Amino acid sequence: MSTLLEVSGVSVSFDGFKAINNLSFQIAERELRAVIGPNGAGKTTFMDIITGKTRPDEGRVTYGDKGASLLSMSESRIAQAGVGRKFQRPTVFEDQSVADNLMMALKKARGPFSVLAFRPDEEDHAKIAKLAEEIGLSGALHRKSGELSHGQKQWLEIGMLLAQEPRLLLVDEPAAGMTPTEREHTTDILREAARTRAVVVVEHDMEFVRRLNCKVTVLHEGSVLAEGSIDYVTKNEKVIDVYLGR
Ligand SMILES: Nc1ncnc2c1ncn2[C@@H]1O[C@H](COP(=O)(O)OP(=O)(O)OP(=O)(O)O)[C@@H](O)[C@H]1O
Ligand SMILES: [Mg+2]
Repeated sequence: MSTLLEVSGVSVSFDGFKAINNLSFQIAERELRAVIGPNGAGKTTFMDIITGKTRPDEGRVTYGDKGASLLSMSESRIAQAGVGRKFQRPTVFEDQSVADNLMMALKKARGPFSVLAFRPDEEDHAKIAKLAEEIGLSGALHRKSGELSHGQKQWLEIGMLLAQEPRLLLVDEPAAGMTPTEREHTTDILREAARTRAVVVVEHDMEFVRRLNCKVTVLHEGSVLAEGSIDYVTKNEKVIDVYLGR
């Protein structure tokens, strides 16, 4: 499979502290990848660098068929180029229905100039129905988003990101605060999403990561400590030492 994103030799310091230290990481088109690591390992900072929120001191970040540098692009350009990101706290419009939230995301995907003239047609309504099915909210389309459970709001937010058809989706700790059943459903959504795009998931919950059934990258002190299947990395001595704090 061809490479979609390549991070090479990236470092960033905050007040002299190296949060990311000579990090190299690659993700292929339509790959699902889990990123784990102890608190402060640099997982969120890594996503901040890809999305242009944080600029590294050194290194390269290239993306897409032509290997364009993301480091010379603004945050909004990076988003337009197909990099979507889900933050931990859902940011759905609570007063609006699930369908309206999805429709707004679809509208946004058309770009700033089409927003004013946007009139949803049948195809758009069909897209909303399909998205709702993908995130398991078909039965809740006309409910006010504020009435949804925490897990359902997270799914809605994932649906709103999917509406924008990202080529690379970054998701930071999606299972935090979810019930076990909600977690299971979340892994299904992410696995399904990764059939048509690359998805990078940061998560602490090992059961969740195991269910994703994908390659795992372990970050530690801003670099890759180990990479491989969940069984491989959880048996890796360096990883065990880090998690046991040795
Ligand atoms: N903007 C910033 N200014 C100063 N220090 C920062 C900044 N962002 C991150 N850091 C520091 O960089 C290190 C890595 O932080 P990061 O949030 O990337 O870790 P993480 O792996 O996401 O941790 P967690 O699992 O707790 O979410 C931490 O020591 C953090 O305090
Ligand atoms: Mg984090």
